Amino acid sequence: QLADSLYIINGFAKEYFTDTLFQSEEGQNVGLSYFEERGFTEETIRKFQLGYCLNTRDSFVKTATAKGYNLEYLQKTGLVTIRNEQPADNYRGRVIFPIHNQSGKVLGFGARILVKTDKAPKYINSPENEIYIKSRVLYGTYFARHAIDKLNECLLVEGYTDVISLHQAGVENVVASSGTSLTQDQLRLVKKYTNNLTIIYDGDAAGIKAALRGLDMAIEEGLNVKLVLLPEKEDPDSYVQRIGANAFREFIEENKKDFVLFKLEISLRDAGNDNVKKSQLVNEIAETISKIDKAEDFTRQQDYIRQCSQLLKIDEQGLITLVNKYIR
Ligand code: UTP
Ligand code: MN
Ligand code: MN
Ligand code: MN
Ligand code: MN
Repeated sequence: QLADSLYIINGFAKEYFTDTLFQSEEGQNVGLSYFEERGFTEETIRKFQLGYCLNTRDSFVKTATAKGYNLEYLQKTGLVTIRNEQPADNYRGRVIFPIHNQSGKVLGFGARILVKTDKAPKYINSPENEIYIKSRVLYGTYFARHAIDKLNECLLVEGYTDVISLHQAGVENVVASSGTSLTQDQLRLVKKYTNNLTIIYDGDAAGIKAALRGLDMAIEEGLNVKLVLLPEKEDPDSYVQRIGANAFREFIEENKKDFVLFKLEISLRDAGNDNVKKSQLVNEIAETISKIDKAEDFTRQQDYIRQCSQLLKIDEQGLITLVNKYIR
């Protein structure tokens, strides 16, 4: 009941913001030009139902309440806040990215400021409510699911615009974690469509750390995880727009690394000659390998044991014993 009302309000808001983008003068001059400068075509803008919220105090909320939408529900969706005791539009002067569920209904919005400042956050996102539970949502699933199914691989990126630019370049099997670390529920969502997850994160330290955090969880879900690190200061959006669709695809294919081996490599580099750290590492890797479901993928576990014992310069049988200790 409440959920239905929130879906209806979000649906109305989505249309209001796309109409504003395409039909109002401010929408065209400010919002559309912004998207065009970022290289988004009209087809892309329409496909992702992008919009614009006027830079006025309450144009949206006035229209919505005049149409009979309940103010309390409007607040629940995050579209409206109370400012100086009066209802006000929360996303004013921002471009709008609707966030869809798997069947295309709008769960919430991301609203981006046009010019970055220190004073306001770059994106304002809808709060959690009865229909929007962030840990269960991956941005872009609705647009990506058939491609993921067909290609038997899901690419995971960080942001809304990464998903959109990749789609425009013809890479459609892609979803975004929206800047948060991965959750078990999100991994289960991926697993519904494929076992193969390829994480494409920024090539900086934060990107690597964020990616590594999800590794053991992903393996427990039975996912086969690969990682691609982009060149410094690039994200998938900037990179694909700079080098083009074909070169981007080639880059991904050539730079895919197995995630377990990647983790081991950087941890080894980290440990250096420290023997305590090294033996800790052996244990960690054994635990990771133990999480691969043997029944499902016996060869994969064997391959890892062989490759990891070589990298660690330890006896294969020793690693097998250790792995078995973690299996129960
Ligand atoms: P990024 O800072 O990489 O943004 O954050 P972006 O996706 O590249 O966006 P553009 O290209 O500057 O427009 C990645 C994701 O983290 C979330 C958003 O989902 C964003 O897409 N994020 C980031 C927020 O929710 N709030 C923020 O203030 C920043
Ligand atoms: Mn299908
Ligand atoms: Mn980053
Ligand atoms: Mn980014
Ligand atoms: Mn970006």
